[in-house]
Amino acid sequence: MLLLGVNIDHVATLRQARYATMLSSPNAEPVLLDAAREAEAAGADSITIHLRADRRHIQDADVWLMKRELEVKLNLEMGNTPEIVDIALAVKPHFVCLVPENRQEITTEGGLDVTSHAVALQETTSRLKANGTRVSFFVDPVLEHIQAAADCGADMVELHTGTFANHTDAARALEVERLSRAAMLAQSLGLQVNAGHGLTTKNVRDLFTVPHLVELNIGHSLVARAMTVGLRTSIQEMLAVMADYKG
Ligand code: PXP
Repeated sequence: MLLLGVNIDHVATLRQARYATMLSSPNAEPVLLDAAREAEAAGADSITIHLRADRRHIQDADVWLMKRELEVKLNLEMGNTPEIVDIALAVKPHFVCLVPENRQEITTEGGLDVTSHAVALQETTSRLKANGTRVSFFVDPVLEHIQAAADCGADMVELHTGTFANHTDAARALEVERLSRAAMLAQSLGLQVNAGHGLTTKNVRDLFTVPHLVELNIGHSLVARAMTVGLRTSIQEMLAVMADYKG
């Protein structure tokens, strides 16, 4: 069964839009933990939050709160910087997903350049793993980065599906082939294969020929759809589509 990690960053985005300087206000909403509880009730297998260097949505206190209160596993998405690594070592989330981070970007734009940053990534990976956290690398479906992720000691890769999501027809079919080859190599190297970025109930079925997928991480479309049907229904709709994945 394909697992679903629900990214709730955008719930915090909405809160920050009004309450960034008044987080202790009793009026501060939406309440992140309420959203996480809805996601759990809907059947989410994990909750993902991205603690960015600029703190544009998730705040440090959110990370501690999620680790303390969640019943499902916490996946902390983060850049490989000393400040954020120290927080991850203190909080001990179940999973960390290492991503490239760029202050100007609206969302994570590409996968990690694992080969160029192998030494730093390997060091962080071994510190996190020794501390009890499983480590994933967010990568484009490029075979040399998959091999490098395994060489760095990663437990998992999350294949970047942004290009897949942004194309249709022939270009999408080509990207599905790249994702399939990447998934096969990752699995053969003993890496858990996850995927995410830009996935919606409308496009996710096109991903189902990619083998070995274990977990999808989805945020924007679930939170956007929640505006009309509520978060629980939005997540349940996605889980209903994902139930057709055959592996
Ligand atoms: N995976 C990673 C590594 C991401 O950075 C994001 C975006 O925060 C997602 C998955 C979820 O992408 P989306 O919000 O487009 O579903």
